[in-house]
Amino acid sequence: MKKLKIADGIYMLTMNVEDILFEGIWELANGVTLNSYIVRGEKTAIIDGVIGWDGIPETLYQNLEEIGVDPQNIDYLIVNHMEPDHSGWISNFRKIKDDFTVICTDKAAKMVASFYGGENIRIVKEGDTLDLGKGKVLSFHPVPNVHWPDTMYTYERDTKTLFSCDMFGSFGRMGDHCFDDEMTTEEVDFFESEGIRYYSNVMTTFTPSLRKAIEKAKTLEISTIAPGHGPVYRKNPQKIIDDYFRFSQYAEGAGKNEVTILWGSMYGMTAKAVDYVEGILQREGVKYNKLEMPIDSDSEMVATVFKSAGIIIAAPTYEYKLFPPVAAALDEVGRKKIAGKLAFRFGSYGWSGGAEKELNEIMERNKMNWSFIQSVEFEGAPKEEDLRKIEAGVLELIGKMKEKIVE
Ligand SMILES: Cc1cc2nc3c(=O)[nH]c(=O)nc-3n(C[C@H](O)[C@H](O)[C@H](O)COP(=O)(O)O)c2cc1C
Ligand SMILES: [Fe+2]
Ligand SMILES: [Fe+2]
Repeated sequence: MKKLKIADGIYMLTMNVEDILFEGIWELANGVTLNSYIVRGEKTAIIDGVIGWDGIPETLYQNLEEIGVDPQNIDYLIVNHMEPDHSGWISNFRKIKDDFTVICTDKAAKMVASFYGGENIRIVKEGDTLDLGKGKVLSFHPVPNVHWPDTMYTYERDTKTLFSCDMFGSFGRMGDHCFDDEMTTEEVDFFESEGIRYYSNVMTTFTPSLRKAIEKAKTLEISTIAPGHGPVYRKNPQKIIDDYFRFSQYAEGAGKNEVTILWGSMYGMTAKAVDYVEGILQREGVKYNKLEMPIDSDSEMVATVFKSAGIIIAAPTYEYKLFPPVAAALDEVGRKKIAGKLAFRFGSYGWSGGAEKELNEIMERNKMNWSFIQSVEFEGAPKEEDLRKIEAGVLELIGKMKEKIVE
């Protein structure tokens, strides 16, 4: 656990978590941070506590003491969001102190009560304030459905700090640099990419609500954005606001100037055509990503499809349907409401075909509204004529993709 001062009277405690499945699903190739904040006036508040995460009260004591906070002097626990990655320590904290007030929205209050017991909860609404003394005044701003119904921002007026919880968060472990102004170019790129992974894995289903949360952030005068996961933005908080807006566009079909080949093949027939397509993309100088299902992780798959302006689906027929690992991947993308992408599919079949029919069913069932270039299905190995048609499809995709690019 690292402890840092982020402004006068405001401290950050942050820890890297590795080797977990985030939300029990997402394999995090590069880990994630959990950030907690302490605001000290005459009274002390802790926002989104993670500091007793290992369940040991002594760890909690030690971490707080190292920044000069006596746990007995914590008056308020601010629960911006009830998800246990931020609030799981409440029951732990009760073991060492029981006279604190939990501050949260009405929706969080119901959950705090049902998950941890319901004493001393103060419900706040839009614009409510809490004066901690010594000039530190917190105000509360619900941002429902980011990504739970209970979520709110906490804003500190004196330092103009926005504690945004999951909003403006990112996956990715942090080394010595926790502030945007300290980051190297590589670290900036890393967190952009991990931000996309985070948005696409955790947030994208709720894109309309995130747009409202972006608008709400714009109504506040912000010097620093301090999220629950990932770096703190104090040099240029507008960057992460703009990035989040751009990510929200990816959820609606825009993307970077990249193609993703989402593919799977049993005996290498479809794979032959994938090799051929790679040659075309290289010849045309188009950046591309290859995701082989079921080998690549769902976290990587969702993030990569999400950020790409053009999608190539390459999968054969299996038991009269689409090759299951690719079908499952597309279904996951559909559940995430990643809509409006531009795509082209090809694949091999043995006797009946059927992959195409299921692809259409997945698109309709999830209301994905993707635009497809005419698919190419071929019997057995791809012949010269099939490859010509595939080349035409790829070139059409590259041409049409230009309208979708937002970087
Ligand atoms: C388990 C299995 C099920 C299959 N089911 C069908 C099918 O229902 N209809 C069909 O036309 N071909 C079916 N095939 C044939 C494949 O689509 C064909 O072998 C194709 O070339 C596989 O392409 P791949 O080598 O890229 O996996 C099936 C093949 C396997 C191994
Ligand atoms: Fe969350
Ligand atoms: Fe979170």
